Amino acid sequence: MKYNCSPFVKWVGGKRKLLKELESRIPKFERYFEPFIGGGALLFHLQPEKAYISDINSELINLYKTIRDDVENLISDLEKHIHSEEYFYEIRNLDRKDDFEKASNIFRASRFLYLNKSAFNGLYRVNRKGEFNVPFGRYKNPIYAIPENLRECSKFLKKVEIRNGDFEKFSPKEGDFFYLDPPYFPVSETSNFTSYSKDGFSFQEQKRLLDFAKRIDENGGKFLLSNSYSDEVLEFYKDFEIEVVEMGRSINNKGTGRGKVKEVLVANYQIEEGNLFS
Ligand SMILES: C[S@@+](CC[C@H](N)C(=O)[O-])C[C@H]1O[C@@H](n2cnc3c(N)ncnc32)[C@H](O)[C@@H]1O
Repeated sequence: MKYNCSPFVKWVGGKRKLLKELESRIPKFERYFEPFIGGGALLFHLQPEKAYISDINSELINLYKTIRDDVENLISDLEKHIHSEEYFYEIRNLDRKDDFEKASNIFRASRFLYLNKSAFNGLYRVNRKGEFNVPFGRYKNPIYAIPENLRECSKFLKKVEIRNGDFEKFSPKEGDFFYLDPPYFPVSETSNFTSYSKDGFSFQEQKRLLDFAKRIDENGGKFLLSNSYSDEVLEFYKDFEIEVVEMGRSINNKGTGRGKVKEVLVANYQIEEGNLFS
Protein backbone atom coordinates (compact mmCIF):
# COMPACT_ATOMS: atom_id res chain seq x y z
CA MET A 1 0.00 0.00 0.00
CA LYS A 2 1.28 3.46 -0.94
CA TYR A 3 0.68 6.58 1.10
CA ASN A 4 0.05 9.94 -0.51
CA CYS A 5 3.06 11.60 1.07
CA SER A 6 6.00 13.59 -0.22
CA PRO A 7 9.05 15.30 1.37
CA PHE A 8 8.15 17.84 4.04
CA VAL A 9 11.49 19.70 4.04
CA LYS A 10 13.34 21.57 1.30
CA TRP A 11 16.83 20.11 1.23
CA VAL A 12 20.01 21.09 -0.55
CA GLY A 13 20.96 18.16 -2.75
CA GLY A 14 17.37 16.89 -2.65
CA LYS A 15 16.76 14.25 -5.28
CA ARG A 16 13.28 15.13 -6.54
CA LYS A 17 14.62 15.96 -9.99
CA LEU A 18 16.57 12.74 -10.29
CA LEU A 19 13.83 10.36 -9.13
CA LYS A 20 13.09 8.73 -12.46
CA GLU A 21 16.79 8.25 -13.17
CA LEU A 22 17.29 6.68 -9.79
CA GLU A 23 14.18 4.50 -9.72
CA SER A 24 15.01 2.79 -12.98
CA ARG A 25 18.40 1.77 -11.58
CA ILE A 26 17.28 0.19 -8.34
CA PRO A 27 17.70 -3.59 -7.99
CA LYS A 28 15.44 -6.03 -6.13
CA PHE A 29 16.12 -6.03 -2.40
CA GLU A 30 14.81 -7.28 0.91
CA ARG A 31 15.75 -4.30 3.07
CA TYR A 32 16.13 -0.66 1.97
CA PHE A 33 18.68 1.62 3.67
CA GLU A 34 19.11 5.35 3.26
CA PRO A 35 21.78 6.50 5.74
CA PHE A 36 21.93 10.10 4.42
CA ILE A 37 18.19 10.67 4.41
CA GLY A 38 18.01 14.52 4.13
CA GLY A 39 14.61 15.33 2.60
CA GLY A 40 14.03 11.66 1.74
CA ALA A 41 12.82 12.18 -1.85
CA LEU A 42 13.61 8.62 -2.93
CA LEU A 43 12.30 7.01 0.26
CA PHE A 44 8.87 8.66 -0.06
CA HIS A 45 8.76 7.90 -3.76
CA LEU A 46 9.51 4.20 -3.38
CA GLN A 47 7.94 3.58 0.03
CA PRO A 48 9.68 0.24 0.55
CA GLU A 49 8.17 -2.30 2.95
CA LYS A 50 11.29 -2.59 5.11
CA ALA A 51 13.21 0.65 5.37
CA TYR A 52 15.97 1.97 7.61
CA ILE A 53 17.01 5.59 7.54
CA SER A 54 19.49 7.82 9.35
CA ASP A 55 21.07 11.23 9.27
CA ILE A 56 23.76 12.94 11.34
CA ASN A 57 21.49 15.98 11.74
CA SER A 58 19.74 15.42 15.08
CA GLU A 59 17.16 18.19 14.58
CA LEU A 60 16.15 16.69 11.23
CA ILE A 61 15.83 13.21 12.74
CA ASN A 62 13.81 14.60 15.63
CA LEU A 63 11.42 15.99 13.00
CA TYR A 64 11.04 12.59 11.30
CA LYS A 65 10.39 10.88 14.65
CA THR A 66 7.94 13.54 15.79
CA ILE A 67 5.96 13.27 12.54
CA ARG A 68 5.85 9.51 13.05
CA ASP A 69 4.91 9.55 16.74
CA ASP A 70 3.05 12.79 17.46
CA VAL A 71 1.82 14.32 14.24
CA GLU A 72 -1.37 15.98 15.54
CA ASN A 73 0.45 17.90 18.27
CA LEU A 74 3.04 19.00 15.75
CA ILE A 75 0.35 20.27 13.36
CA SER A 76 -1.22 22.29 16.20
CA ASP A 77 2.12 23.70 17.29
CA LEU A 78 2.87 24.94 13.75
CA GLU A 79 -0.10 27.30 13.95
CA LYS A 80 1.60 29.54 16.47
CA HIS A 81 4.41 30.74 14.18
CA ILE A 82 4.43 34.28 12.85
CA HIS A 83 5.84 35.37 9.52
CA SER A 84 8.04 38.29 10.52
CA GLU A 85 11.74 38.99 10.46
CA GLU A 86 11.89 39.76 14.16
CA TYR A 87 10.11 36.55 15.16
CA PHE A 88 12.30 34.56 12.74
CA TYR A 89 15.53 35.68 14.43
CA GLU A 90 14.04 35.07 17.86
CA ILE A 91 13.19 31.46 16.94
CA ARG A 92 16.41 30.95 14.97
CA ASN A 93 18.62 32.10 17.82
CA LEU A 94 17.13 29.79 20.43
CA ASP A 95 19.84 27.22 19.67
CA ARG A 96 22.42 29.69 21.04
CA LYS A 97 20.91 29.30 24.49
CA ASP A 98 22.04 26.67 26.99
CA ASP A 99 18.58 25.33 27.68
CA PHE A 100 17.71 24.66 24.00
CA GLU A 101 18.32 20.96 24.46
CA LYS A 102 15.58 20.90 27.08
CA ALA A 103 12.97 22.17 24.59
CA SER A 104 10.28 19.59 23.80
CA ASN A 105 10.55 17.37 20.74
CA ILE A 106 7.34 18.89 19.38
CA PHE A 107 8.66 22.43 19.68
CA ARG A 108 12.03 21.54 18.12
CA ALA A 109 10.29 19.80 15.20
CA SER A 110 7.95 22.74 14.70
CA ARG A 111 10.87 25.19 14.85
CA PHE A 112 12.68 23.11 12.23
CA LEU A 113 9.77 23.26 9.75
CA TYR A 114 9.31 26.97 10.42
CA LEU A 115 12.97 27.78 9.79
CA ASN A 116 13.17 25.47 6.79
CA LYS A 117 10.33 27.31 5.04
CA SER A 118 11.22 30.84 6.20
CA ALA A 119 15.01 30.94 5.83
CA PHE A 120 16.78 32.19 2.71
CA ASN A 121 16.52 29.64 -0.14
CA GLY A 122 15.17 27.00 2.26
CA LEU A 123 18.72 26.29 3.29
CA TYR A 124 19.68 24.37 6.39
CA ARG A 125 23.17 25.38 7.39
CA VAL A 126 24.90 25.50 10.74
CA ASN A 127 28.20 27.01 11.85
CA ARG A 128 30.98 25.16 13.66
CA LYS A 129 29.15 25.50 16.94
CA GLY A 130 26.10 23.81 15.44
CA GLU A 131 24.07 27.03 15.38
CA PHE A 132 21.60 27.57 12.55
CA ASN A 133 22.89 30.60 10.66
CA VAL A 134 20.78 31.15 7.54
CA PRO A 135 19.23 34.65 7.24
CA PHE A 136 15.53 35.46 6.87
CA GLY A 137 14.18 34.56 3.41
CA ARG A 138 11.52 37.23 2.70
CA TYR A 139 8.95 34.83 1.23
CA LYS A 140 5.49 36.34 0.76
CA ASN A 141 3.39 33.66 2.36
CA PRO A 142 5.40 30.59 3.36
CA ILE A 143 3.55 27.36 4.13
CA TYR A 144 5.36 25.51 6.91
CA ALA A 145 3.71 22.18 6.18
CA ILE A 146 0.59 20.69 4.62
CA PRO A 147 -1.21 18.90 7.47
CA GLU A 148 -2.62 16.10 5.28
CA ASN A 149 0.83 15.39 3.90
CA LEU A 150 2.28 15.18 7.41
CA ARG A 151 -0.51 12.75 8.42
CA GLU A 152 0.17 10.50 5.44
CA CYS A 153 3.93 10.63 6.10
CA SER A 154 3.22 9.75 9.71
CA LYS A 155 1.41 6.57 8.66
CA PHE A 156 4.20 5.56 6.31
CA LEU A 157 7.01 6.39 8.77
CA LYS A 158 5.51 4.00 11.34
CA LYS A 159 6.99 1.25 9.18
CA VAL A 160 10.44 2.84 9.03
CA GLU A 161 13.31 2.45 11.46
CA ILE A 162 14.71 5.94 12.06
CA ARG A 163 18.13 6.59 13.61
CA ASN A 164 20.19 9.64 14.37
CA GLY A 165 23.86 9.18 13.68
CA ASP A 166 26.63 8.27 11.34
CA PHE A 167 26.12 6.21 8.15
CA GLU A 168 28.51 3.53 9.42
CA LYS A 169 26.09 2.46 12.14
CA PHE A 170 24.41 0.07 9.74
CA SER A 171 25.83 -3.42 9.21
CA PRO A 172 25.16 -4.48 5.62
CA LYS A 173 24.28 -8.04 4.69
CA GLU A 174 22.97 -10.01 1.71
CA GLY A 175 19.62 -8.77 0.38
CA ASP A 176 20.28 -5.23 1.59
CA PHE A 177 20.15 -2.26 -0.75
CA PHE A 178 21.78 1.05 0.22
CA TYR A 179 21.07 4.32 -1.51
CA LEU A 180 24.07 6.49 -0.55
CA ASP A 181 23.61 10.21 -1.13
CA PRO A 182 26.31 11.97 0.89
CA PRO A 183 27.32 15.63 0.83
CA TYR A 184 29.17 15.82 -2.49
CA PHE A 185 32.86 16.12 -3.17
CA PRO A 186 33.32 19.82 -3.99
CA VAL A 187 33.90 20.36 -7.72
CA SER A 188 35.57 23.68 -7.06
CA GLU A 189 36.72 25.37 -3.88
CA THR A 190 33.87 27.89 -3.81
CA SER A 191 31.12 25.31 -4.31
CA ASN A 192 32.03 23.67 -1.04
CA PHE A 193 28.57 23.53 0.53
CA THR A 194 28.99 20.80 3.11
CA SER A 195 27.72 22.31 6.31
CA TYR A 196 24.53 20.33 6.95
CA SER A 197 26.00 19.51 10.34
CA LYS A 198 28.67 21.14 12.47
CA ASP A 199 31.23 18.49 11.55
CA GLY A 200 31.06 18.98 7.76
CA PHE A 201 32.00 16.18 5.38
CA SER A 202 35.72 16.10 4.66
CA PHE A 203 37.95 14.15 2.31
CA GLN A 204 38.47 11.65 5.14
CA GLU A 205 34.71 11.19 5.42
CA GLN A 206 34.49 10.50 1.67
CA LYS A 207 37.23 7.91 2.11
CA ARG A 208 35.35 6.33 5.01
CA LEU A 209 32.25 6.18 2.80
CA LEU A 210 34.24 4.45 0.07
CA ASP A 211 35.32 1.82 2.61
CA PHE A 212 31.72 1.43 3.73
CA ALA A 213 30.59 0.95 0.10
CA LYS A 214 33.26 -1.76 -0.27
CA ARG A 215 31.97 -3.40 2.91
CA ILE A 216 28.41 -3.48 1.51
CA ASP A 217 29.82 -5.15 -1.59
CA GLU A 218 31.91 -7.70 0.31
CA ASN A 219 28.96 -8.63 2.52
CA GLY A 220 26.71 -9.40 -0.47
CA GLY A 221 24.62 -6.20 -0.38
CA LYS A 222 24.03 -3.72 -3.18
CA PHE A 223 24.57 0.01 -3.28
CA LEU A 224 23.79 2.93 -5.55
CA LEU A 225 25.70 6.12 -4.75
CA SER A 226 25.28 9.67 -6.05
CA ASN A 227 28.15 12.13 -6.02
CA SER A 228 29.65 14.96 -8.01
CA TYR A 229 31.31 14.49 -11.37
CA SER A 230 34.82 15.02 -10.06
CA ASP A 231 38.25 13.46 -10.49
CA GLU A 232 38.21 12.19 -6.92
CA VAL A 233 34.91 10.35 -7.30
CA LEU A 234 35.94 8.78 -10.61
CA GLU A 235 39.22 7.64 -9.04
CA PHE A 236 37.70 6.40 -5.75
CA TYR A 237 35.03 4.27 -7.40
CA LYS A 238 36.92 3.08 -10.48
CA ASP A 239 36.35 -0.60 -9.60
CA PHE A 240 32.56 -0.20 -9.68
CA GLU A 241 29.97 0.68 -12.32
CA ILE A 242 29.98 4.42 -12.99
CA GLU A 243 27.39 6.34 -14.98
CA VAL A 244 27.32 10.08 -15.64
CA VAL A 245 23.89 11.75 -15.42
CA GLU A 246 22.71 15.33 -15.76
CA MET A 247 20.40 17.13 -13.42
CA GLY A 248 19.08 20.67 -12.97
CA ARG A 249 20.60 22.07 -9.85
CA SER A 250 19.03 24.67 -7.60
CA ILE A 251 22.05 25.91 -5.67
CA ASN A 252 25.48 27.07 -6.72
CA ASN A 253 28.12 29.44 -5.45
CA LYS A 254 26.73 32.56 -7.09
CA GLY A 255 23.01 31.84 -6.86
CA THR A 256 22.78 32.20 -10.66
CA GLY A 257 23.34 29.89 -13.61
CA ARG A 258 20.83 27.22 -12.58
CA GLY A 259 21.78 25.06 -15.56
CA LYS A 260 22.36 21.35 -15.89
CA VAL A 261 25.14 19.87 -13.84
CA LYS A 262 26.82 16.52 -14.34
CA GLU A 263 26.72 14.04 -11.51
CA VAL A 264 27.75 10.44 -11.23
CA LEU A 265 25.89 7.35 -10.13
CA VAL A 266 28.02 4.48 -8.86
CA ALA A 267 26.76 0.94 -8.29
CA ASN A 268 28.20 -2.46 -7.45
CA TYR A 269 25.86 -4.15 -9.95
CA GLN A 270 25.10 -3.85 -13.66
CA ILE A 271 22.83 -0.83 -13.68
CA GLU A 272 21.47 -1.24 -17.21
CA GLU A 273 20.52 -4.91 -17.06
CA GLY A 274 18.84 -4.40 -13.68
CA ASN A 275 16.43 -6.61 -11.84
CA LEU A 276 14.48 -3.40 -11.56
CA PHE A 277 12.45 -2.33 -8.58
CA SER A 278 8.76 -2.70 -9.39
C1 LIG B 1 22.88 15.25 -0.17
S1 LIG B 1 22.07 15.26 1.40
C2 LIG B 1 20.89 13.97 1.13
C3 LIG B 1 19.74 14.43 0.26
C4 LIG B 1 18.56 13.45 0.18
N1 LIG B 1 18.88 12.31 -0.64
C5 LIG B 1 17.31 14.15 -0.35
O1 LIG B 1 16.70 13.68 -1.33
O2 LIG B 1 16.93 15.17 0.23
C6 LIG B 1 23.24 14.59 2.51
C7 LIG B 1 22.76 14.34 3.94
O3 LIG B 1 23.81 13.66 4.65
C8 LIG B 1 23.79 14.03 6.03
N2 LIG B 1 25.09 13.65 6.63
C9 LIG B 1 26.26 14.32 6.61
N3 LIG B 1 27.25 13.61 7.21
C10 LIG B 1 26.68 12.43 7.61
C11 LIG B 1 27.18 11.27 8.26
N4 LIG B 1 28.47 11.17 8.64
N5 LIG B 1 26.33 10.24 8.48
C12 LIG B 1 25.01 10.33 8.13
N6 LIG B 1 24.48 11.43 7.51
C13 LIG B 1 25.31 12.46 7.24
C14 LIG B 1 23.46 15.51 5.97
O4 LIG B 1 22.90 15.95 7.20
C15 LIG B 1 22.47 15.57 4.78
O5 LIG B 1 21.13 15.52 5.24
